Amino acid sequence: MRSVTLTRETTQQGNLILVNKEHPLAVRPESGQLRTFGSTGIPLEKKTALVLENLFGALGCHSSLLLVSGYRTKAGQEEIYSSSLKENGPDFTRKYVALPDCSEHQTGLAADLALNRRPVDFLRPYFPREGICQSFRAKMASYGFIERYPEGKEQITGIAPEPWHFRYVGMPHASLMEQHGFCLEEYLEYLTGFPAEGKHLNIQIQNQAFEIFWQKLEEEPLQVQLPADAPFLVSGTNTGGCIFTLWR
Ligand code: DAL
Ligand code: ZN
Repeated sequence: MRSVTLTRETTQQGNLILVNKEHPLAVRPESGQLRTFGSTGIPLEKKTALVLENLFGALGCHSSLLLVSGYRTKAGQEEIYSSSLKENGPDFTRKYVALPDCSEHQTGLAADLALNRRPVDFLRPYFPREGICQSFRAKMASYGFIERYPEGKEQITGIAPEPWHFRYVGMPHASLMEQHGFCLEEYLEYLTGFPAEGKHLNIQIQNQAFEIFWQKLEEEPLQVQLPADAPFLVSGTNTGGCIFTLWR
């Protein structure tokens, strides 16, 4: 066995963190955790950038798709929010722009993509359900990306459908979410049904077995015992605990 130490900070970072109106960002990424995407000059969280570059490479879409927006600072989100209020009014802005500190763009894990066609709408980029955009959607889950604000989930996400906004959650979570039709809020709620001390979620995705469980943090620090031989990842959820993912 080996032991992993969880603290409050561990629960507030990682590829599965929920950032929305009810769960504002608690830990800002440091500059060393970011990397610019290709030659765009737009930063993303490091792994998100690397995986998205691989996905673009696999699709050969470096010139047909554009990264319109990635990591944003709090000041950047404030600027977007206030200029949208002026230009588009409060109804539009509430639907399409998250409040400062409630935007997952501030994590670096979110990427707004557009079909490379002028003019490009910064707040609502054109990303149709056909052609190269649909090929991107067909492949993205196996690379760990989800469409974060699907149609029909507005009451849960608090944001209008955004077919251009993709979020890195990693594997196997993106595939599981796709299989179940869960948005991130629903998925994290579902995983609390597999607590550390209870029955874990054992699944097979793309010929790989995974064991997944939820560890709530009541008191810090908390030591979690894991089998010595299984590679694992731990991510906070920003909801008071962590998800453990073990490769079996
Ligand atoms: N457009 C998304 C909701 C954001 O502003 O983070
Ligand atoms: Zn976005």
